[in-house]
Amino acid sequence: MFITTKVWNADQGYESTLAAFEQSIQKLGLEYLDLYLIHWPVAGKFTETWRAMEKLYQDGRVRAIGVSNFQIHHLQKVMENSSVKPMVNQVEFHPLLTQKDLLAFCRKNQIQLEAWSPLMQGNLDVPLLHDLSSKYGKSPAQIVLRWDLQHQVVTIPKSVTKHRIEENANIFDFELSQEDMNRIDSLNQNKRFGPDPDNFNF
Ligand SMILES: NC(=O)c1ccc[n+]([C@@H]2O[C@H](COP(=O)([O-])OP(=O)(O)OC[C@H]3O[C@@H](n4cnc5c(N)ncnc54)[C@H](OP(=O)(O)O)[C@@H]3O)[C@@H](O)[C@H]2O)c1
Repeated sequence: MFITTKVWNADQGYESTLAAFEQSIQKLGLEYLDLYLIHWPVAGKFTETWRAMEKLYQDGRVRAIGVSNFQIHHLQKVMENSSVKPMVNQVEFHPLLTQKDLLAFCRKNQIQLEAWSPLMQGNLDVPLLHDLSSKYGKSPAQIVLRWDLQHQVVTIPKSVTKHRIEENANIFDFELSQEDMNRIDSLNQNKRFGPDPDNFNF
């Protein structure tokens, strides 16, 4: 098991992040976390929050620290003011939102991109994904998760269905051609199913 949790927006700031961390770890009944993330880039707060994340990391309370829903400009701001840079950025990422510039920026700066809603919240009824599903003998979900893997993106697909959980883990016995990778990339519509990190009010 690899356990991640995040600091919620209302708890952002230095002292309140440290307190929120203690509460989370107590609720989980753990001594340390594998990964702790800032959930959203709350304006005016997230650099102070990051200072607390650095302290938790330096004190050995977490094995890795990162962020979620950060755009390039948010990452730059954190990196300008810190000694430890984010190790992970968990963002909405899927064939309709391929985030090409953000992915390149994270790769260049050795920040691991992690895809939330990688399966477009179950909206997998896309003709190209069905064509590739027939071609490779894999489900549309497996095609998408393999596309992530070949882009070196970590995924956290969610399912409450046993056979789908197994299916989503079974993506290591085939490889998409570069041409098919490019075809999936070209589905991009900059379409978000979730909130926009540059325009949210919670
Ligand atoms: N950091 C953030 O701000 C943020 C925001 C949103 C979400 N997340 C996290 O991201 C994770 C996943 O996101 P998500 O649940 O929104 O979306 P998702 O993983 O893209 O999609 C989940 C949906 O896809 C269905 N599904 C799963 N596997 C499938 C398969 N093999 N074939 C067909 N359908 C399949 C599930 O149905 P069943 O469950 O019925 O099988 C469920 O309806 C969650 O852990 C969530 O907490 C993070």
